[in-house]
Formats: sequence, structure tokens, C-alpha cells
Amino acid sequence: MNRRHFLAALGTTACAGSVLPALGQYLIPEGQVRLVFNENPYGPSPRALAEVRKVLSLSAYYPDSPYDYPIRDDLMDVIAADHGLSHDNLFISSGSNEGLQAALLAFGSEGKVLTPSLTYDAHLGYAEGLGVSVVRVPLRDDLQVDLDAMEAMVDESVKVVYLANPNNPTGLPMDSGRLRDFCRKVGPKALVIVDEAYNELAENPARDTLIDLVRDGQNILVTRTFSKIFGMAGMRVGYGLGRPDIIAKTFKYIMAWPNGIGLTAAYHSYIDKEFIAFSRNKVLEGRAMVEKTLADVGLNPVASDANFVFVDSGRDGMVVRKAMADEGVLINAGYEGYPHYIRISMGRLEDLQTFDRVFKRVMARA
Ligand SMILES: Cc1ncc(COP(=O)(O)O)c(C=O)c1O
Repeated sequence: MNRRHFLAALGTTACAGSVLPALGQYLIPEGQVRLVFNENPYGPSPRALAEVRKVLSLSAYYPDSPYDYPIRDDLMDVIAADHGLSHDNLFISSGSNEGLQAALLAFGSEGKVLTPSLTYDAHLGYAEGLGVSVVRVPLRDDLQVDLDAMEAMVDESVKVVYLANPNNPTGLPMDSGRLRDFCRKVGPKALVIVDEAYNELAENPARDTLIDLVRDGQNILVTRTFSKIFGMAGMRVGYGLGRPDIIAKTFKYIMAWPNGIGLTAAYHSYIDKEFIAFSRNKVLEGRAMVEKTLADVGLNPVASDANFVFVDSGRDGMVVRKAMADEGVLINAGYEGYPHYIRISMGRLEDLQTFDRVFKRVMARA
């Protein structure tokens, strides 16, 4: 159901007085396969959902300590402890997107923001709308982020560099040694934001994360999210890790009150190691299935380190997207400069079997 239908349903309820909308009205339409927004249908963790049920009645209150509901502190405790950091190295935001927006406004409005031309960009568009100047640097021919070109472009006018590792929509990780070197060289001139939304799904998360540079006091902000491996996109919880001065400056721009239900689910998901391993295995199993479907029709997917696969379909990606959507399978396309590429997000394994059937049918058409 889209937002308009949702509101219409509420309106109907209010007028009719006694007729509640059926739960089914809020569900994904039967038969629709949703492989479009890099969500993770294996979440949220069942243990987290059980804990959420216990605190629903506390939703009457703001989720902060005066009401003996210090769930944000508990969440910060476990995240900080995991990384050998403390609370002043950490902010919690409404999805990582809010933290990214805040950091761009806090630091980027003093100059330019440098970013790859093809990357996750909701926060970049938002910042541009508020007058921040964003400079986009083309990817290399192999679709890798061009760190050499970006490094050469950092002068006094550049205040922020934004990078996603692995990148979205390509799914490609950056070489972690080169990225560390980049941060050390660029850091004295500009804040480097490294968005690690998909880190937990990477082949080697510990090797690829740059959180060690936070411990090292570098000029870097690492963001993470509960929307991907934790499968909590609808609950809007993310976080950022950085030096206390970077966190404090960014936090001034974090406006949304944290969501108490989301924080509860985030805390209990974060400590549910069994669920995390399960979720990761399912996503990786699904990714291998999608890669096989693509290879079966002669396509050569980009080697993804995330929960989506990017591939040159050899035809107009928007036409492929439309043909798939007509058969109930939602995928993404329409990437500026990459008109033939499509992106397929992971879904349940049964959804990916449907993708296999429908995609082969669509690609078999002239
Ligand atoms: C690289 C990247 N960063 C951040 C986000 C935003 O995630 P959220 O605001 O749900 O944490 C996304 C969403 O797809 C993403 O791909």
C-alpha cells in the first residue's frame, strides 16, 4: 500500500467510526516480489520483535531517561563496547540517512562536498536542496570509485568527502588499504564520511571497516544502519562513529526524536548473534541465486559485497524494470550515465525463484 492509500484507509475508518481497515490492506500485495530497495525480509530478529511487544505501551512517552526507559544508552553501550569506543564517539539517528544529512549540513555547508558520481545519494540531494554544493566525480571504467581522482581534487574548498563502502548501486567494496591511505591523506583537509551500511554483509567485514581510524582519532565519520543485515528498514535506526568533536557537531543537526520501539528492536537485534548469522547466510545464499540467474541468460553481474546485484542488462534498464513490474517483480534501474544497468535487491529465496522465472521470460522476448 502506498502512503496515499494508507491515509485514505485511516480516513475511511474515522468516518465509518466502527469499521477498522483489514490488516491485509497494509500488507505488500499478494504475489508482488519486492527486490527494489535493498531491504532484508529476513528481519527483524524474532527475539527483538518479542521484546518490542513488551514495551509497546511505553510508546506514550518520549524514549529518554526521565521515564526510566534508557534504551538508547543500552544500545550505545553495546555498540561502543564492540568497537572499543565510548558514548561520545557515537550518535544514534533515525536511520543512517538522518545522520548523513546532519553531517553534510554540519560540515558541508562551509564548502564543497565531493562524492562519486554513482553512489547512494538521498542525503546528497537533500543537502543540495539546502544550498550545499556537491561535486560528483565519475567512477572508473571498472565501476570502482576513483580515489586517485578524488584525492587530487581535495583542496581548501572541499569540506567533506562522502564514500559508501561497499558502494550502492554497484555493490563493489574499495580496497581497504587504499581507502585507509586516502583517509589519512585527505583527513587533514576535509572530513571523510565512510558509509558502511552494508559492511556486515561484506566478505570480510573486519578487514573492510574503517572504525579503527575512529579509534586512531582521524578526521572520519563512519555510519552504519539497522536497515540492512538487521532487516529493520521500517523502524528507522542508524548510527555514526567518530571523534567526539565530529559527533557533537553533527548531533546538533539531528532533529528527529529517536523512536523508542526502533531502539528496543535495534538493541535486541544487535545482541542476537544467531539471527545476525542467519540473516547474513540467507542474503548470501540469495545473492548466489541471483548471480546464477543472470549468468544463465549470458549477463555478467558486478561482483557484489552487499545485498543487491548490479548488472548491465544489455538493453534499456527502464524497459526491463517496467516489464518485470508488469509481472509483479519490482527491481531498480534508471541510473544516470548507466542506462542499461539494473539493480536487483535480495528477497526471500522463494521470491528469488520467482525472479528467476520472470526475468528469463522477460529477457527471452525480442
Ligand atoms: C549506502 C547507503 N547508505 C545509507 C542508506 C540509508 O539507510 P537508512 O537510512 O535506512 O539507514 C542506504 C539505503 O539504501 C544505502 O544504500
